[in-house]
Amino acid sequence: MFEIENFDLKLNTDIIGRNFIYCDEIDSTNTYLMDKNNKVNINGSLVLAERQIKGRGRKDRVWYSAKDLNLNFSILLIGKEFLGKNFNLINFASSLAVAQSIENLFQLNTSLKWPNDVLINRKKVSGILLEASSQGNNIERMVVGIGLNVNQTMFQGTFNLPPTSLKIELNENVDRERLLAEILNNFEELLSLVQNNPEALMKEWKSKCRMIGERIEVSDDKGKKYGIFDDLDENGFLLLKIKDKIEKIHYGDVSIQ
Ligand code: BTN
Repeated sequence: MFEIENFDLKLNTDIIGRNFIYCDEIDSTNTYLMDKNNKVNINGSLVLAERQIKGRGRKDRVWYSAKDLNLNFSILLIGKEFLGKNFNLINFASSLAVAQSIENLFQLNTSLKWPNDVLINRKKVSGILLEASSQGNNIERMVVGIGLNVNQTMFQGTFNLPPTSLKIELNENVDRERLLAEILNNFEELLSLVQNNPEALMKEWKSKCRMIGERIEVSDDKGKKYGIFDDLDENGFLLLKIKDKIEKIHYGDVSIQ
C-alpha cells in the first residue's frame, strides 16, 4: 500500500502533485490524464497507479511493471506557468528530476540517455513518456508519464536495454513515498528552470549524459544512422555529426556503437 500521508509530509511543492489521484488499477495513467472526458483540469495533478493494464512506453512499446512495487505515475501540465515557453525541454527536466532524486536519496550514480531514460550501471531504471495535445499553435495539455522500477527484482521479456531497479542496485527495499515526494520537489524546481534558465537545465542534463562525444547508432522507423553524438541544440534535439555534416535528430533510439 502506498501511504499517502507519508508522501504528503515530504512534499514541498506548490503545484505539482497537490491534486493526487491514487488508483489500484488503471489502463494507463497517461491515457487517463490525456482524456479530457475524465475532467481532470487542475495544473500539476498526479495519477499514481499500482498496476497498469495497458502501460505504454515510447514508440508504441509496452511498459510492464509488477503490482504494488514500483512508481508508475503521470503529471498533468496545463496553462502558461509551465508551458509558457521551451516546452520541448520538459522532457529533460523530467529525467533530470528522477536522476537527481536517486542520487540525493541513495548516493547511486545515474546517467541519462537521450531523450529521457535514466540509467544505473548502464541498465534502465526509469523511462518517461511525454504526450501533449495542442490547440492552434499552443500546447493545451501536456502529460509527463514516469515509470520507475523501485522494488521489483525480477523482469521478464525482451528489452532494448537491460532493466534494473533501485532494490537490485541497493540490495534493500526503498520507501516509495519519500522517493516520489523527492522527485516532485525536484521536478517543480526544474520546471521553473525550463522557463527562467533553460541553459542551466541543459548544462546539468548534459553533464549526466555519458554519450556526448561518442560514436553512436540512431535508429528510427526509417532505419539506422551512425555518427558522433556532437551536442544537443537549444530545443534538446540531438546533433549527429556524420562525416563533416551535422544532422538534427528529432526522434529515435540511440546506442553506443
Ligand atoms: C519508455 O521508456 O518507453 C517510457 C515508459 C513510460 C512508462 C510510464 S508508467 C506511467 C505512465 N503511464 C504509461 O502508460 N506510461 C507511462
